[in-house]
Amino acid sequence: MPLVSLRQVLDEAAKGGYGVGAFNVNNMEQIQAIMEAARETKSPVIIQASRGARSYSQDRFLYHLMLAATELYPEIPTVLHLDHGNSPETCQSAIDMGFTSVMMDGSLLPDGKTPSSFEYNVEATRKVVEAAHAKGVTVEGEIGCLGGIEDGHGSGGSGLEHLTDPDQAVEFVKATGLDALAIAIGTSHGAYKFSSKPTGETLKMERLIEIHKRLPGVHLVMHGSSSVPQDLQDIINKYGGKLKPTWGVPVEEIQLGIKNGVRKINVDTDSRLAITGAIRKVFFEKPEEFDPRSYLKPAREAMKKVVALRMTQFGQAGHASDYQPLSLKTMADTYAAQPVAV
Ligand code: G3H
Ligand code: 13P
Ligand code: ZN
Repeated sequence: MPLVSLRQVLDEAAKGGYGVGAFNVNNMEQIQAIMEAARETKSPVIIQASRGARSYSQDRFLYHLMLAATELYPEIPTVLHLDHGNSPETCQSAIDMGFTSVMMDGSLLPDGKTPSSFEYNVEATRKVVEAAHAKGVTVEGEIGCLGGIEDGHGSGGSGLEHLTDPDQAVEFVKATGLDALAIAIGTSHGAYKFSSKPTGETLKMERLIEIHKRLPGVHLVMHGSSSVPQDLQDIINKYGGKLKPTWGVPVEEIQLGIKNGVRKINVDTDSRLAITGAIRKVFFEKPEEFDPRSYLKPAREAMKKVVALRMTQFGQAGHASDYQPLSLKTMADTYAAQPVAV
């Protein structure tokens, strides 16, 4: 089947009451790891590429690898999503290439660092919604900024000021007409999220629950959702790595989110940890090896394992063949028939 829209996959997830992991990729082995995990667990798939990934891989390579994935795994509904698009132009280039979903991250200015104004965010996101929906492509937006709590987002503050405000979330959705909303509840990107084991109070789940109550029909997205498992940290450190003690997002918190409207869960760091640990192990145990396949194969296998586990934990396992893919043309016609956002 062709690449499918994120909107369809998330609508189905909402009907079924489950979440879908969105896994970042940069190369062939990562795409293969995810597709194998999906086949094993019979899961729909969201694969996402950041701007960095598009530049690293030369995105046409990545796009054609994704087409290969749809040919080789025809039974798996597969979305190709742009992660953290920094401007309408970046989103447009992904739409033109054939991505079936884009994130316009207007919570930050195009430098990808500086928190933006609400007005800027609405304008940029709405512009992308217009262009994307005309092609049947899905749009994820973000309100509130990731990070915070522990790193204060460089502002010297507590970080709490960058969490999503429920009133603004309602206004933002109404003004943009987006399909999925990323919210900030205290997670951050990367391996160093929390310097001690998170308690039930660490993430601001009550905010998420409040936003879901106010916007029950909107698909919520959790970024920075790697769990940074201790066993993967241990493998890296056992074979010469130097990760500092760190904690990620507990899977139970994500599952609580899924019960409260979270449909897309972004995971990159866990895959990176799995890959790095497996490669370090081969380098350590077999220093005479120099065939890249000798370490890329175990790396791919290690990533597949963690992705398959997450697919099961998020509840998407078993749902790959629940539905037939809708074409982007059908999606575009559906959007065209809907009232425009105000
Ligand atoms: O948003 C963060 C993702 O983990 C992608 O990271 O920008 O290093 O590719 P990246
Ligand atoms: P992690 O760094 O927690 O894997 O988050 C990835 C992410 O949010 C990508 O957009
Ligand atoms: Zn993110």
